[in-house]
Amino acid sequence: MQKNIVVLGMGGTIAGAGNPGGTALGYQAGKIAVQALLQGIPVPAGYGVSVQQVAQLDSKDMDDMHWWTLAKVCTQHLAQPDVAALVITHGTDTLEETAWFLQCVLPLGKPVVLTCAMRPATALSPDGPANLRDALACAAATHQLALQSCPVLVVAGGEVHAAQWVRKEHPYRMQAFSSGALGPLGWMEEGRVRWACAPSGETLIPPGLPLSLAMEMPVPPWPWVEVVASHAGARPEVLECLLAAGIQGMVVAGTGNGTVHAAWLEVLQRARAAGVHVWRCTRCAQGQVVQPAGQEDAEVTALAPHKARISLMLQLLQQPWKEA
Ligand code: SIN
Repeated sequence: MQKNIVVLGMGGTIAGAGNPGGTALGYQAGKIAVQALLQGIPVPAGYGVSVQQVAQLDSKDMDDMHWWTLAKVCTQHLAQPDVAALVITHGTDTLEETAWFLQCVLPLGKPVVLTCAMRPATALSPDGPANLRDALACAAATHQLALQSCPVLVVAGGEVHAAQWVRKEHPYRMQAFSSGALGPLGWMEEGRVRWACAPSGETLIPPGLPLSLAMEMPVPPWPWVEVVASHAGARPEVLECLLAAGIQGMVVAGTGNGTVHAAWLEVLQRARAAGVHVWRCTRCAQGQVVQPAGQEDAEVTALAPHKARISLMLQLLQQPWKEA
């Protein structure tokens, strides 16, 4: 049976157009159909490619409904015996969030590879075509590893990253993504992957849901969880407003080793007492909160703030739905 890679279009700068003078500014993300992005891109030997436009947006505007739809579409394709892997074209701005969300809710037997671009498709020298070629090649190469469990991958700038660690850390350069001190899982070299280490679907940090639950997820709205960053001059009023508005969960991106401004402590205590779920992590770009052995605080998570928000939301989402 011919094996297929399904390419799902979500929009982003990779599908961006309308930039004046070929620059990488002033364009609109999500203008070019995913089918058109594939023109001239080599398909890995032995595979066919099919496409589906799932959304066409600037990923800064991603919401629960887009994720719900994407999870359903992914799950349906992954269940087909001829489908070897998925490639998702996506904006860079919330790419790591979508990657972590999919890691939490999809079955992990087949490769799911997200890719993107920092320059619009109509730029003088766009990075999207090479990234898309690399993503297809990485999807095929990972499929050939026949892994039982495969992490959701991000391919950009010639590097392969795992959803758990990847982070956008530059607003302009083409080498915009990093997995911090761990480095990438591998590098793309002329259509082949040079793996730095064997990819594994196991995460060091538990996802918010048992895996493979995308098909059962209720239609949004999902529980309301915000990231709030502690900082010099932090004022309690901002948390008071969220409480009054009915927030269900807060991820506090703490300073340094997850510390929180004294001005927030009392209102956070009230939030907990009112049933709001509070998680705490570090706002530092690298590393995790370190706790004394045997005195671990269950509120502390090793996830980066915006991924922690997803995991807490999925945990809250699961409570009423699984108990019902
Ligand atoms: C987006 O995230 O959709 C726009 C920015 C980008 O893709 O680089």
